[in-house]
Amino acid sequence: MASPTRGSNTTRPASTRASSIPWERCDEPVENHLPVEDIPVLGSRRVARTNGPEVALFRNAEGEVFALLDRCPHKGGPLSQGIVFGRSVACPLHNWTIGLDDGCARAPDEGCTTRFAVKVEAGVVSLDVDELNSLALHPTAGVA
Ligand code: FES
Repeated sequence: MASPTRGSNTTRPASTRASSIPWERCDEPVENHLPVEDIPVLGSRRVARTNGPEVALFRNAEGEVFALLDRCPHKGGPLSQGIVFGRSVACPLHNWTIGLDDGCARAPDEGCTTRFAVKVEAGVVSLDVDELNSLALHPTAGVA
């Protein structure tokens, strides 16, 4: 599948989950669960962390769910605002293609952002709390 048009940008609705994970839902309060349906197909949701940059959850056309640090490895663009296609997302700033399964830029570009383990069971998405509290906590994490 071809990359989307450079400069494309999509604002996504947000949703929720978690007693201890502060799922972001725009300005709405935190909820306790994140049904997979709350991640738009070919879209994303952001997860706020108290100690570090946000994590972005992505859902592709096949219904697979991925989690990456919401920062492009190029210059920190918000991957959650990018265009999801196949198992990739196009960064909204300079259109690098980032693999959703590994967080790495596709050639000829180079660099990776942090990938987080994600699990979907019985239609509910969950992340590893230990990873959320330990990976890529620095404010400039994910930026090459
Ligand atoms: S910041 Fe993502 S491509 Fe430049």
